[in-house]
Amino acid sequence: MKKRLLATLLLSVSMLAACGGDDTGNQNADGSIDGEKVVKSSCATCHGGNLEGKGNTPALNDVGARLSEAEILDVIENGRNGMPPGLIKGEEAEAAAKWLAEQK
Ligand code: HEC
Repeated sequence: MKKRLLATLLLSVSMLAACGGDDTGNQNADGSIDGEKVVKSSCATCHGGNLEGKGNTPALNDVGARLSEAEILDVIENGRNGMPPGLIKGEEAEAAAKWLAEQK
């Protein structure tokens, strides 16, 4: 019981620390960008909270079965029809494309 409480405390402290130096909260503890967090915070408004798609907006939870990482990055950077370009850039865009390409 005591051990468990300590573990919970340590976990919340390390989570706080991870968020401390990062404005977006999208970084992993090692400073690399978490593509899943980026997508869930920047893309869910249109693509759905579970990326299940919404109205005319396609699902992203299986996009890796349709598009390659490079194609996904292209859509993120350049947009496509109703998909606005440049919502996220640079490392965030790359991390998001990498993570999305694995969703099949
Ligand atoms: C303003 C609403 C909106 C937001 C925000 C948005 N999207 Fe989209 N997205 C769309 C629409 C609409 C399409 C369909 C475009 C088309 O029909 O060609 C789309 C298509 C896509 C596709 C192609 C899917 C496929 O099956 O071909 C990808 C990949 C994608 N979006 C990624 C993202 C990512 C990553 C983000 C967050 C950075 C994001 N989108 C945020 C509206 C949005």
